[in-house]
Amino acid sequence: MTSVDTHNAVSEPPTPHDSRPLYISTGDEEQHFKAAYRQGLSIVLKGPTGCGKTRFVEAMAHDLDRPLITVSCHDDLTTADLVGRFHLRGGETEWVDGPLTRAVREGAICYLDEVVEARQDTTVVLHPLADHRRQLPIDRLGITLDAAPGFGLVLSYNPGYQSVLKDLKDSTRQRMVAIEFGFPAPETEEEILTEEAGITQGTAATLVRFSQAIRRLKTPGLREVASTRVLIAAGRLIAEGLLPRDAARIAIAAPLSDDPTVQAGLLRMIDTYVGGHASGVPALIS
Ligand SMILES: Nc1ncnc2c1ncn2[C@@H]1O[C@H](COP(=O)(O)OP(=O)(O)OP(=O)(O)O)[C@@H](O)[C@H]1O
Ligand SMILES: [Mg+2]
Repeated sequence: MTSVDTHNAVSEPPTPHDSRPLYISTGDEEQHFKAAYRQGLSIVLKGPTGCGKTRFVEAMAHDLDRPLITVSCHDDLTTADLVGRFHLRGGETEWVDGPLTRAVREGAICYLDEVVEARQDTTVVLHPLADHRRQLPIDRLGITLDAAPGFGLVLSYNPGYQSVLKDLKDSTRQRMVAIEFGFPAPETEEEILTEEAGITQGTAATLVRFSQAIRRLKTPGLREVASTRVLIAAGRLIAEGLLPRDAARIAIAAPLSDDPTVQAGLLRMIDTYVGGHASGVPALIS
């Protein structure tokens, strides 16, 4: 797997995974992904932060035995960052493929993470690749590449962050099969936690119950609920010897919101679900 710094689009060649990254299925997503991939359909993964989208793509690339090239999208990303550009070397200009072009040539899976961050005039380059043509026009070179067998285009974004300004064009969306991700069922999330954080099933169950309560909250001060990722962080701190309530405070409550009222509410929930008063908690919530 290769992650690409798009300001310096030269990177190491992608390598297939040696062992399967741990991904525990939460539904039909593996079957749906593999069916779409085998049919040459492009795929968009939609879901909240920290719910397993990236891990899922890594596991799918492993199962399908394809190299994975990941690009983290941002609003400065240009078409040249994706496709490639001429570089000056020793007075000579030399073409250097961008990550998308490399994936097209090598038949890799190209994963554009947080694609809505990229401007729409950048993502338009994906259109002929994402539909039946499976072609990448490279204007600078005056060529059009046919995608090598095995090439796959996968995008992801978090609909919760979406705004009118940041959205995929309808013409992009309709070239994609969309797989929706949510948080895993409690028993699956407990299994993920025990595996990833190395904690007991009982401790995992406590953290998951706490997160379920947060996910039921409808508080304006809370933009995102507790993800599987923050639960794993709390679990790892517990495995390191921290008290569960302290781990929950610094890994779950504090990162979720800066709003003092929301914070106080979360700390009270820690008392209820995780137990005891977290150390260092101000008197106002005791
Ligand atoms: N189904 C799952 N099986 C195994 N691990 C999982 C699963 N879901 C989540 N995880 C764990 O949660 C962590 C966060 O997942 P990941 O990084 O894939 O989230 P993401 O959806 O890509 O988030 P973001 O939108 O912020 O990039 C992973 O490192 C992994 O440890
Ligand atoms: Mg991700």
